Amino acid sequence: MADYDVIVIGGGPGGYVCAIRCAQLGLKTACVEGRETLGGTCLNVGCIPSKALLHASHSLHEAQENFARMGLKGKAPSVDWGQMLAYKDDVIAQNTKGIEFLFKKNKVDWIRGWAKIPAAGTVLVGEETHTARHVVIATGSEPATLPGVEIDEKVVVSSTGALALPKVPRRLAVIGAGVIGLELGSVYARLGSEVTVIEYLDHVTPGMDGEISKVLQRTLKKQGLNFVLGAAVEKVEAKKTKATVHYKLRKDDSAHSLEADVVLVATGRRPYTSGLGLEALGVAMSKRGQIETTNWQTSVPGIWAIGDVIDGPMLAHKAEDEGVAVAERIAGQAGHVNYDVIPGVIYTSPEVASVGKTEEALKAEGRAYKVGKFSFMGNGRAKAMFAGEGFVKILADKQTDRILGVHIIGPSAGELIHEACVAMEFGAAAEDLARTCHAHPTLSEAVREAALACGDGAIHA
Ligand code: NAI
Repeated sequence: MADYDVIVIGGGPGGYVCAIRCAQLGLKTACVEGRETLGGTCLNVGCIPSKALLHASHSLHEAQENFARMGLKGKAPSVDWGQMLAYKDDVIAQNTKGIEFLFKKNKVDWIRGWAKIPAAGTVLVGEETHTARHVVIATGSEPATLPGVEIDEKVVVSSTGALALPKVPRRLAVIGAGVIGLELGSVYARLGSEVTVIEYLDHVTPGMDGEISKVLQRTLKKQGLNFVLGAAVEKVEAKKTKATVHYKLRKDDSAHSLEADVVLVATGRRPYTSGLGLEALGVAMSKRGQIETTNWQTSVPGIWAIGDVIDGPMLAHKAEDEGVAVAERIAGQAGHVNYDVIPGVIYTSPEVASVGKTEEALKAEGRAYKVGKFSFMGNGRAKAMFAGEGFVKILADKQTDRILGVHIIGPSAGELIHEACVAMEFGAAAEDLARTCHAHPTLSEAVREAALACGDGAIHA
């Protein structure tokens, strides 16, 4: 048994960041994690491994599509799937060990095992009871499935199974055209699978700016992904080596089916809180299974919650920011998260990134806005990279010119978006971005041009 100032439950991006910041602020801190390695879903079976496979499959695509055009001749590489998975596992190991090192460096104790909270201030791990003035729940989320669909992680897989398939499937059916479906669908399409994405809505990526969503779907279609939109999956029948997906088209209620060797279920995630004993503790929960919080404090004093278990987008960086804010509050500081400026990125090719309001949201609010757009076709650097497809779109207040939202589809969108985030944090006007000197030739010039388009006009359009 040990006594701490803070015990963080969960070693994912929310939890480990919170624990490190608590320790840096002079609090005696432990983090409970039951997995063999730290890093949670993100590092072990989420963001990091999927980015490794996206990078590898994108490199293959580059070799197949663009090398010869640049005078790089020779046979395009073939896929050694075993080696690609080994590379992915090595990337995971480097990252998870890195967190272990950071824990040691910052003197955060890693308590190995699964935690229960028998009472506020007490955390039970296995047979051992630990005490703490503050307990932070950062237990994340798990894949949500559909009624009539059973995930066996062999033929019917979640993102976890999709990152470790024994071979590249000939036919992959993806249920859900959200972030996971499109990222992993892209990976397998590039590796040669015949990919069909079945989506309930009549567009991909719910919540995204409509114009960007359309261009993304069109581009992915060109890359070989098939889409069945407006279709509700009702059942998946799995056999040993294949499965049949049954769905109904919403427009006429007609029934259809699709056969695949692997079915990826990517219909969202749900908060993971089972086993913590929250019901007995009386922690207030929402109908959707999220822990209810006010400034990350649950209804039970001394117990906090952050990340995927509470309201808001299920994003690692949102959880990290909450982790820092909670650490600061526990240390007596004024921890804060600006939920209006949380970027979202989809790591397809081209990438998609957005921050702030979409055009649809501004219309619904009845807010007067202006749009500045710039195509990557007008950006020299993008053209040299065969990446002229896509654009930057800046939405600014019609009267004040203040930036309200930025949406990018194009090369390195996930990096470019942060210029917009910083500008928005400083309450910048589009003109502030437009008058900032941008190095030439860079992709970032497209952001400046879009800002110029909010005023007197872009130069290279
Ligand atoms: P999602 O919520 O992004 O998309 C799920 C999709 O499934 C929706 O478009 C929905 O309409 C569709 N759907 C639901 N039921 C259906 C049915 N019966 N038939 C057909 N379609 C159906 O969920 P996803 O992609 O599973 O991601 C889960 C979470 O993980 C999200 O919150 C996402 O933000 C996060 N994530 C973020 C990443 C990133 O930031 N790059 C990468 C991976 C995941």
